[in-house]
Amino acid sequence: MSKLQPDMDAFVVRGGCRLSGEVVVSGAKNSALKLLAAALLAEGTSRIRNVPDIVDVHTMLAMLEHLGAAVAVREDADVLIGVPAEIGQETSSDLAARLRASLVLLGPLVARTGRARLAQPGGCNLGNRSIDMHLSGLAGMGADIQMGPDWIEVRAARLHGTDIDLEYASVGATENLMLAAVLASGRTTIRNAAREPEIEDLAIFLQKMGAEIDGAGTPEVVISGVDSLRPVDHWVIGDRIEAGTFAVAAAVTNGDLAIRGVDPAFLQLPLSKLIATGVDVRERADGFVVRGGGELVATDVATLPFPGCPTDLQPHFILLLSQAHGTSMVTENVYDGRFGIVRQLRAMGAEIEVTGHHAIVRGPRPLRGNRVMATDLRAGAALVVAGLVASGTTIVTEPRHIDRGYAHFAERLRALGADVERVTTRALAV
Ligand code: EPU
Repeated sequence: MSKLQPDMDAFVVRGGCRLSGEVVVSGAKNSALKLLAAALLAEGTSRIRNVPDIVDVHTMLAMLEHLGAAVAVREDADVLIGVPAEIGQETSSDLAARLRASLVLLGPLVARTGRARLAQPGGCNLGNRSIDMHLSGLAGMGADIQMGPDWIEVRAARLHGTDIDLEYASVGATENLMLAAVLASGRTTIRNAAREPEIEDLAIFLQKMGAEIDGAGTPEVVISGVDSLRPVDHWVIGDRIEAGTFAVAAAVTNGDLAIRGVDPAFLQLPLSKLIATGVDVRERADGFVVRGGGELVATDVATLPFPGCPTDLQPHFILLLSQAHGTSMVTENVYDGRFGIVRQLRAMGAEIEVTGHHAIVRGPRPLRGNRVMATDLRAGAALVVAGLVASGTTIVTEPRHIDRGYAHFAERLRALGADVERVTTRALAV
């Protein structure tokens, strides 16, 4: 039986609930973070709406302030970024180390100021997270790149357009190079570009600013540089990973959930995988309805860049399949170290074996509450969901990972019938 320690910071989940009702997903973390960075490209005040209230966003806002922007958060999700004529060129190591997306400041800073010095970006530990394609793309645009053990410096009086062939459809490299190319001289073509919906959201944001971009959402993005950009007003797309998290939570708890605020086209493959396991999924104009209740059956899942099944939902699928009848294989193709959830789920009673980049999941196995650790953001959220189906109490430690990407997770799950608390006993003791 798991016990709360006096100094524990955790999600505490009591299992046995059935989720029902309606949930509106937040704006997409992985879009909002890039749009906030993009706001630096134009002097004046940009307004970004539907920004999720998560720690990663607050870290990015602090980075923008450090660079000289004036930040105002109006109501929950409505953010104003006032960008002065002169902005800073260096990020603080303390802030950058907390956030992978700090890397996308390289493009806007070098494009706008001619120099960017970035402290080593942080983020989840998912194995190798190299940045070679970001740097070689910028070098191809004429930038001079220097690197130290914990910093990167990029300089270019003005970047110039070029042809870039990405070895892999990297989300971050595509975004950084788009952000750099919009103010470069001439035309930049990015081939084998990432096609995630967040790339299209960024392109729409930049187009509203006056940028010339064609082909975002396809493997070839063409950007014709302009001399200056103007501030914008933009609504962030819904978070497809948060939507997928609630969908799996509904499916494993035999729930009945209307998930709103996201385009179901962003989740075609994961939703088809849910249907393959026997879950009833109905699309609506602004979301979808998920009904569990039938027997779950095994299926295979392989993660791939969009439109493939997102790696950010891989831990949730491993959980789902641990409750399905039969043997499933989950193949991770994006990261070389993203099976952190397996050990934790095994401690709760799941039967999962990892061979290379495959996880073999045998189900259904009843889960029992235990003390488990959020090894990263998505694994952490999936463990909270696992606690909903486990018997007894599950304590998910290292909740800071979950706070980085899921807004008010415990409250929103409670509103759907779950018994979940986000406890900070240390803070309570003060
Ligand atoms: N890669 C390289 N070289 C590069 C860039 C990437 O080898 O220059 C490799 C990475 O090592 C990794 C793979 O390519 O194995 C994927 O990296 P990608 O650049 O596509 O991902 P990212 O931009 O670092 C974003 C999301 C991740 C999400 C991935 C894939 C943000 C802030 N992060 O990361 O989200 O998993 O795309 O979809 O947008 C999360 O939200 O929990 C999360 C980890």
